[in-house]
Amino acid sequence: MALPFSAMPGPRCVPIFGSALNYTKLGPYRFERLHLAKLEYYQRYGRIYKEKLGPMTVVNLFDPVDIAKVFRGEGKYPKRPPMPIVYIAEKREKFALGIGSLQGEAWFNVRKSVQKMMMHPRAASVYLPAQNEVADDFLQLLLDKRDRTSGEVSELFSYVTKYAMESIGTVCFNTRLGVMDDDLCLGSDANKMISSSQAMFDAVQKTMYAFPWYHFFRTRLYSQFVTGKRGCNELALKYLNAAREKFGEVSSNDSENNDSFLSAVLSNKALSNEDAVNLTVDLFTAGIDSTASALSFALYHLAKNPAEQEKLYQEISTVIPRGCSVSVSHIDNMPYLKACIKESFRLNFPVEGGTRRFLEEDTVLGGYMVPKGALIAMNNQVMCLQEEYFERPEEFLPERWLKKDSRDIQAPPPFVMMPFGYGPRMCIGRRFAEQEIYLALIKIVQTFRMEYHHEPIGMINRVFTMPDKALRIALFPRD
Ligand code: HEM
Repeated sequence: MALPFSAMPGPRCVPIFGSALNYTKLGPYRFERLHLAKLEYYQRYGRIYKEKLGPMTVVNLFDPVDIAKVFRGEGKYPKRPPMPIVYIAEKREKFALGIGSLQGEAWFNVRKSVQKMMMHPRAASVYLPAQNEVADDFLQLLLDKRDRTSGEVSELFSYVTKYAMESIGTVCFNTRLGVMDDDLCLGSDANKMISSSQAMFDAVQKTMYAFPWYHFFRTRLYSQFVTGKRGCNELALKYLNAAREKFGEVSSNDSENNDSFLSAVLSNKALSNEDAVNLTVDLFTAGIDSTASALSFALYHLAKNPAEQEKLYQEISTVIPRGCSVSVSHIDNMPYLKACIKESFRLNFPVEGGTRRFLEEDTVLGGYMVPKGALIAMNNQVMCLQEEYFERPEEFLPERWLKKDSRDIQAPPPFVMMPFGYGPRMCIGRRFAEQEIYLALIKIVQTFRMEYHHEPIGMINRVFTMPDKALRIALFPRD
């Protein structure tokens, strides 16, 4: 017999605010380090607890069996909570919602139009030549910018971010944006794209947990979001028009027959011009900070773990002849590279609180009857660091992900590590993100020996988790 929802434990609440004051100056926690609060709550309450934050109640899960139950019941149109500011701007400015914010059938129709094209295991390989070139330019940038004595690149994270932007730009807009160029003019499209996308993302991040003043007023952050979104939309329209001219009149409505993502989007009669702009802007903005943070943490862990870095260097040297462009078959034959990335995701899980869903049906979770519609957070970040699931959880041990090498290390159970989410609503950019990270890591490890000699880097939660300190990784050319 399940216990009632009201019996579920959780932090003490006060009227109106719930336990939100715990994250202000009055309390011990901060939203930007929510993962640390969750760890404490997990130790206090166990595998399930509920927390009331203002009007919203979040059910926090830490048990892979419960997480599997939520996903199995999620149905055809999984519902994930949106970024609040996006909904307000949609209503007030008449911005159309993108794939990440739409719900129900409207979401399903947009997702269906690009699902096969983006989720097919070989989906990203069409972009391998273009993204190889971007990674080569990124490498050259690092060679130019590194300090010859310390080996460090000042503002490394901002270069990694520009790399991610340039690389996903080849997919979304079928062109080189030029954001990694050194001498960008203030009024150039590349510069506008950097400032617009950053303004938009920054506003989303800063309003995510803050009191929603923008509901009532046009706050500074709200205006920043609107200006950024307008800037991105204008540029996207310009790139899409240029691409349309380049592809010529595309008459086919069959996206599978078009090998480039953008030609398929533009030829899809089910998508209006506005839909195409929204889709590409949504994908583009979702693909920048996410990939930049994941790549940054992977570089950091490899720099801190010379033996593992050397093992990766040996794999790269064996599989890819020096000076050769990276091919699909090279990537297929690099299990250690993939294991390093997974292990980095485990130590620095990319989204605070893991994947989120609104519960589709009344469901028994952790012995409590949780009502339909409850917001569920699957706290992979905390689970990924538990000894119960991962031996020596604090250590960077890529071997744990390799079946043949993991004799001494327990294999992780399912539903504990899902850096790209799960099910029909999982990350649609996964193949592209992975390819960008593979390319950059291969080229960097091939060229440099990395070292890190500063304070440990932790995480702060933005939309994605990000390094909380400058990435002072020293890069020393191998020969
Ligand atoms: C390492 C990089 C990335 C990580 C860790 C990541 C992670 C995630 C996660 C956890 C979700 C939520 C999944 C769920 O609810 O089950 C998501 C959704 C999404 N991601 Fe990514 N992502 C990354 C890169 C990208 C890239 C490169 C793109 C664009 C090409 C992208 C586009 C999206 C979109 C559009 C959604 C919403 C999908 C939907 O609601 O149907 N992501 N991502």
